[in-house]
Amino acid sequence: MSLRDALKVPANQITDEAVYRERRRLLAAFATVPALGLSGCVGAEPPPPPKVTLTPEQARSGFRTDETLTRFEDVTTYNNFYEFGTGKADPSRAPRTLRTRPWTVAVGGHCAKPGKVGVDDLLKGLTPEERVYRLRCVEGWSMVIPWLGVPLASVLKRFEPTSQAKYVAFTTLADPKQMPGVAWSSLDWPYREGLRIDEAMHPLTLLATGLYGKPLLQQNGAPLRLVVPWKYGFKSIKSIVAIDFVEKMPETAWHEAQPSEYGFFSNVNPAVDHPRWSQKTERRIAGTASKLFAERIPTRPFNGYAEQVAGLYRGLDLKKWF
Ligand code: MTE
Repeated sequence: MSLRDALKVPANQITDEAVYRERRRLLAAFATVPALGLSGCVGAEPPPPPKVTLTPEQARSGFRTDETLTRFEDVTTYNNFYEFGTGKADPSRAPRTLRTRPWTVAVGGHCAKPGKVGVDDLLKGLTPEERVYRLRCVEGWSMVIPWLGVPLASVLKRFEPTSQAKYVAFTTLADPKQMPGVAWSSLDWPYREGLRIDEAMHPLTLLATGLYGKPLLQQNGAPLRLVVPWKYGFKSIKSIVAIDFVEKMPETAWHEAQPSEYGFFSNVNPAVDHPRWSQKTERRIAGTASKLFAERIPTRPFNGYAEQVAGLYRGLDLKKWF
């Protein structure tokens, strides 16, 4: 039986916790199976990105939404953070073992000034309005969250990336004493993610340090995590300790586990189905005490941020580079 067959589950069960656990168990069991000849495209190189300029008004408009915010209780209890368990409720129930101060992020690779930045230095000099962003976030479900954070670009620029910095690679802490899940083989630790440099420098890409005006809780990726609102949630790497400017497309934890299912770009795209389910609709977290999910709603290209980000992918075959 191939890994692909072993992982087959009906589409309507994809977020069921038991299915998720079984899938992780199977992944661990098949961890030594080679990549099945199915490429998620890491290794090959896509065409160079087009030059895109965004007006300040276009960028600002991406942060506005009049959609109902997802309740704080739901944002903080329905989570994916495998370092604290593979069930959606596990991260919020886990003991508070993560030490979030002092916390520094090491920034290196192709840049003129490699170094470190302390998490508390990130928000210095910003007004409260500059720090709060309302964004829709999508995985198999979606939420609208008032994030507290800083554009990633403003942090990255301090380190002066060189022309060889074509991608940015991110790494999560992997300390089994603070993160019990790291002792399990659900993924190959540390958790890693990557963006193309223009995606990383886009004004909508945030390093978030809080939500609803409060510092991030452990389950949401304290003390700082990525938020890329036009991409699926797994791009939102949590509890980041290292950022590297690299020349080649970096390997990511999910792509490594399932190359056919987690492409490097992972843009929210209703026109490209996941190998095992449609991506045409999503379930919004309902925001009422009695019901977790609202009805399904149509998923919008780039999660509704096409005006701000579609240009980044001009000339790229989004079926191939999903
Ligand atoms: N970051 C780390 N380090 N470990 C993880 O397991 N899960 C990702 C992402 N970041 C994950 C991670 C996935 S699959 C999702 S959907 C989002 O975190 C969920 O973020 P939230 O729990 O704050 O909604």
